[in-house]
Amino acid sequence: MNKLADEVKVEKKYLIINGERVGANHYAPLYSPYSEEKIAEIAMADEELTKQAIQAADEARERIASMPAYERAEILEKVVALLKAKADEAAKIISLESAKPLMFAKAEVARTIETYKFAAEEAKRIHGEMIPFDAATGGVGRIGYTVREPIGIIGAITPFNFPLNLVAHKVGPAIAAGNTIVLKPASQTPLSALFIAEIFEEAGLPAGVLNIVTGSGRIVGETIVADDRVNMITFTGSPSVGIGINNKAGLKKTTLELGSNSALIIDKDVDVDEIIERCIMGAFSNQGQVCISLQRVYVHEDVYEEFIKKFVEAAKQLKLGDPLNPDTYVSSLITKEELDRTLSWIEEAKRGQAEILAGGKVQGNILEPTIITNVDSELKVSCQEVFAPIVAVNQVTSVEEAIEQVNDSQFGLQAGIYTNHVKNALYAAKNLQVGGVIINDVPTFRVDQMPYGGVKDSGTGREGIKYAVEDMTELKLVVWNQG
Ligand code: SIN
Repeated sequence: MNKLADEVKVEKKYLIINGERVGANHYAPLYSPYSEEKIAEIAMADEELTKQAIQAADEARERIASMPAYERAEILEKVVALLKAKADEAAKIISLESAKPLMFAKAEVARTIETYKFAAEEAKRIHGEMIPFDAATGGVGRIGYTVREPIGIIGAITPFNFPLNLVAHKVGPAIAAGNTIVLKPASQTPLSALFIAEIFEEAGLPAGVLNIVTGSGRIVGETIVADDRVNMITFTGSPSVGIGINNKAGLKKTTLELGSNSALIIDKDVDVDEIIERCIMGAFSNQGQVCISLQRVYVHEDVYEEFIKKFVEAAKQLKLGDPLNPDTYVSSLITKEELDRTLSWIEEAKRGQAEILAGGKVQGNILEPTIITNVDSELKVSCQEVFAPIVAVNQVTSVEEAIEQVNDSQFGLQAGIYTNHVKNALYAAKNLQVGGVIINDVPTFRVDQMPYGGVKDSGTGREGIKYAVEDMTELKLVVWNQG
């Protein structure tokens, strides 16, 4: 076990309801996915405690909705300062609970700081617009404008793969826009959410605005989704759970950031040496457990052999091991079940005549970075979201053919294309059926102010603070008859 992990004190963790630490009838042990040692005892909320949290959020609504924008911005700015001061501690928590290698956990903390900074800035520019009423014959003599009002109580359900920053993408814009929140973090990664809630308390967020309810998706998640007092659900996670939420949410607004089998096109004439490092990062950072992880690569036949050779060589160099070791690049998947599922998909690929060029095996509980070629599009490693360090590389004869392959998917989150040809870049931008086209980089590119979200089964709505604020506010119209 790593020295850093030795220092961990196994603490009992509480729910946060109305600014209080609240116990539950049941606690569940939380284990490190890498070392399998117990790292905390987590309160498992029942339906009654979840409803108590919704009640607290309801009672705090008026307080945060009527708080001036500059005060909401000041609270978010204090969060930025406090998180900067505790960045190392935050990164260690992420690594411990999710097995994200420390180098990527540190990068996540740096991004989270920026996400809250964007939220602080956005709080001060939420505005409507004047409507030119006299453009309609019936509107002459009237003036009017729109305002954006807080939507109310937001139920946020967050995933394990970015336990701090994807919480920030829900909590940051919600508070910027003057809403209250009931947050259910992923069962495997509640510690990052509880950590940031303490920071919000220290920053002066009024009690009841941010409530954290840990426990099972079936009890806590479903109670939040079913409760009529909750005005909006924002969810990041698997398509099957997202579709279930949508079906149960009734008239509540929902934004769903779901999965993908993100693809990259590599055109002829591309300098392979220049792109290998980004492809490695895209495919294997956070063990491929990223919605925009590089899962499929379509390489022009002119550069295919060179790309495969160099990509495989680089993947074999990656250091596997303890996530708390600063040199580790790849560590354990989030659970043993996920590892078993992934291995069964690799077996299916082998039976389907695909060729494993790197990895495919397990070291301890870590799946080696795996590169597969000759992958039929019907195989799970290609057509479903793999969420593991596995990448399928196939050869194509043109950008047009590659785009057809990329679009032959139930998902459409982001896609990348490396090309030196403006015509091909523009053709890809127009024809790729995704929420974001990334030219001359991997689909894994994301910074936190950009609109982020998908088409098809990849979801609805957009994150990126400005865009999330639009979803988290109601547009109200004011019309004035001047007589
Ligand atoms: C996700 O997995 O959806 C988030 C990816 C990111 O924020 O980089």
